[in-house]
Amino acid sequence: MKTLTELGTRLGGYSLRTPLVAACGTVGSVVDFAGVADLQAYGAAVAKSVSPTPWAGRKPPRLAATGDGMLNGIGIQNPGVRAWRDEIGPQLGSVGTDVWGSAVGHTPEEFGEVAAVLSTTSVTAIEANLSCPNLEGGGMFALNAKEAARVVAAVRQATDLPLGAKLSPNTEEIVPIASAVAEAGADWVVLGNTVWGAGFDIETRRPLLSGVVGGYSGRPIKPIALRCVWEVSSSVPDLPIVGTGGVASGDDVVEFLLAGASAVGVGTAHFASPRIGERIMRQLAKYLQRHRIEDVTELIGAVQPW
Ligand SMILES: Cc1cc2nc3c(=O)[nH]c(=O)nc-3n(C[C@H](O)[C@H](O)[C@H](O)COP(=O)(O)O)c2cc1C
Repeated sequence: MKTLTELGTRLGGYSLRTPLVAACGTVGSVVDFAGVADLQAYGAAVAKSVSPTPWAGRKPPRLAATGDGMLNGIGIQNPGVRAWRDEIGPQLGSVGTDVWGSAVGHTPEEFGEVAAVLSTTSVTAIEANLSCPNLEGGGMFALNAKEAARVVAAVRQATDLPLGAKLSPNTEEIVPIASAVAEAGADWVVLGNTVWGAGFDIETRRPLLSGVVGGYSGRPIKPIALRCVWEVSSSVPDLPIVGTGGVASGDDVVEFLLAGASAVGVGTAHFASPRIGERIMRQLAKYLQRHRIEDVTELIGAVQPW
């Protein structure tokens, strides 16, 4: 069995004990999730996105299993960053891994405000969630390089913590957008969030989600996320990537590392198996042993050309 040290990785200057990151929105506040899973398997876990003021989220139904994946239209329901700081902040030390805060807002200034408050807690990094597909009005900062950079610049000004920019796969412009957020001060990019989707119940003839269009996640989106990771790692080689989308096994982690990710997010898989992180790390360790790889970081970007 590999030791944890040999499984460590880095996102620029930030060290992770393992390459696994528990993805935002799939492990609650992290504090509650720590009660059901051993978070030692993860290098970090990302708490649910928070906004400056409480957001009620969308009306039910907000979750639907469909086509081997999951549709969600939660709408970033959250208590607001100050309530989060007061209720969750004091408990962060006890969860067994680094906790990253996730900031969301309607404007760059709101993102900055959230990041400033998150930085007064013991979160060890900030994710700017530029890619929420569920906001009223449908806007998404992550689809426009200039807008995305404005948000990242505002967050960069508001905090000294390491900063990740969470981008969207719903674009053909992932490379210029990733370059723009890196230039604006992001230390890494998270590639990525959910893919736009919809579904309909053929008996009731109603949409599966109250908001009709939502974010599709889980196994079927893995090739889309891998495409984003490969495109960005090939074109912006110095920008660290947290590859996220459809990961459910150690082999999936290897695939994302080969494509150029330095760390790998696990999201939807938690709903079926909250303890899946431990299993993924056992599978990853076995792969490394089988291939006589001493250090997991040897796999990063190690895909071979035809
Ligand atoms: C129910 C649900 C809620 C989510 N909430 C958030 C969120 O609040 N902020 C965020 O950045 N991503 C959120 N995500 C996106 C995930 O973090 C992840 O990027 C996406 O689901 C793709 O990974 P997966 O296929 O492993 O789930 C959410 C995903 C799901 C399924």
